[in-house]
Amino acid sequence: MTTMAERLLVALASSAARRYGGELVSELEHALQCAELARAAAADEELQLACLLHDVGRYAIDQSLVADTLEATPVGPSARGHHDLGADLLAPWVPERVAWCVRLHADAKRYLCATEPEYLDRLSAASRHTLRLQGGVMSPDDAARFAEHRWARDAVALRRWDDEAKVVGKRTRTLDDWAPVVRRGVSR
Ligand SMILES: [Fe+2]
Repeated sequence: MTTMAERLLVALASSAARRYGGELVSELEHALQCAELARAAAADEELQLACLLHDVGRYAIDQSLVADTLEATPVGPSARGHHDLGADLLAPWVPERVAWCVRLHADAKRYLCATEPEYLDRLSAASRHTLRLQGGVMSPDDAARFAEHRWARDAVALRRWDDEAKVVGKRTRTLDDWAPVVRRGVSR
């Protein structure tokens, strides 16, 4: 029987053929760079895994269900954000904190836009567009509530690595190097 860890590794491998949003790197390069940045910053293995898997909703799920990407047009009104769909896919299989960080990585961007004006100024045109689809800049009340959560710092850290993980040609560890982390962190 194929385990969830193996299914995710296959999905990640296939994501090498897909472009990451409007950027010049593939989905796989983006995932590997994001995880690499977390590791370089001495994030624990759970957070590294969340970084590696944070965009599964962009490549491991039928994109007709996704409401917030530039590449696909949602088929129906029940379409949802890639972060929610990805977190739903992972939630039964990974530690709760991993699924939480995946689910909240779009909200972490909305939070940073609310609390750091220069962060909003630096967003690419594509990221500003998806920001609108993801609910726009957080209100001060929502930002304060978000910041109180015990994992808010993790989601914000993931989001900052996410933003940096689009360097063309950057050398990283390979997907094979990450396979043990996936197999340890994703239950059967
Ligand atoms: Fe990302």
